[in-house]
Amino acid sequence: MWKKIKYIIETHQLRKYFGKNLKAVDGINLRIPKGTLFTLLGPNGAGKSTTISMLTTILPPTSGTAYISGFDIRKHAKKIRQIIGVCPQELSIYGNLTARENIYLIAKMHKMKKIDYKERTDELLGKMGLTDRADDKVSKYSFGMRRRVNVLMAVVHDPEIIFFDEPSTSLDPQSRRVVWDFIKEFQDKNKTIILTTHNMEEADILSNYLVIIDHGRIIANGTADELKGTLGRGDIITFKINSYMHSGDVIPRIQGLDFIDSVYTLDDKTIELRAKDGLRRISEIMETIPTRIYDLSVRRNSLEDVFLSQTGRRLRD
Ligand SMILES: Nc1ncnc2c1ncn2[C@@H]1O[C@H](COP(=O)(O)OP(=O)(O)OP(=O)(O)O)[C@@H](O)[C@H]1O
Ligand SMILES: [Mg+2]
Repeated sequence: MWKKIKYIIETHQLRKYFGKNLKAVDGINLRIPKGTLFTLLGPNGAGKSTTISMLTTILPPTSGTAYISGFDIRKHAKKIRQIIGVCPQELSIYGNLTARENIYLIAKMHKMKKIDYKERTDELLGKMGLTDRADDKVSKYSFGMRRRVNVLMAVVHDPEIIFFDEPSTSLDPQSRRVVWDFIKEFQDKNKTIILTTHNMEEADILSNYLVIIDHGRIIANGTADELKGTLGRGDIITFKINSYMHSGDVIPRIQGLDFIDSVYTLDDKTIELRAKDGLRRISEIMETIPTRIYDLSVRRNSLEDVFLSQTGRRLRD
């Protein structure tokens, strides 16, 4: 029976326990509209890959349900595998085959016609800057090159939904940029992309919408701007004061400025404040401080701050 699908991916209380006590995924509810680049951001062991494994029908859930394009992951694994592409976290690639042969293998698995996959493979290899090395055995490739081949293997059959599990982890900045640009192209083509990362910059740059997960649970969700906005807006300015004065004595002077959002002490010599347009108006702030300052830094809210405010820990710990 055909029914209209509102969300291309939907999960209800999805859980995966390993043994009795390890709650790898602990009741995740997702509703993802078609064409979204949706990110699962979380630290090591948060449950990102386990979630991906369930959605891609590799692992059965302990409880709960999920639908991919209307198909139940428990009942329609075969159908789901036809419409998705998966780039797993662990490289899944044959070292004694060339890049081209590895990609052809996936194309054949999806029963593509040779005339179609040959042309598409050439195009994809070109986009990833691998044309010159396409006929070398993958065992001779660097890690970054192998990762790029793995990314191509996820998309050769032009799937509607693509899962990228930490596609840029351990890549150098140049390879990372190539992978990001590649992923963005699929976003522009209205494909649905599920990305996992513990790189907050990546999540911030690429996502239309993201969830932060920790210990198998969603602890925050929204667009990157919404999430950062929950912490207050503006620039964050931090500095130390260099004198007999106590930071608490300086605070009332700064509070007198009308563009300051909040100001607080981090310790008896360190002050942090949030101010709209703070960077541009920094001299006005400094003029109110009757002593010398040092270790001045200015930054914007990041997703790292969101994670820190939710968990008391840093993402990178
Ligand atoms: N097959 C398994 N058997 C037992 N425990 C597992 C298995 N797979 C994952 N786990 C455990 O489940 C938890 C979640 O692991 P998962 O791989 O989903 O985390 P992750 O968010 O992908 O982490 P990372 O960023 O390190 O890839 C971890 O505690 C992990 O040790
Ligand atoms: Mg993982």
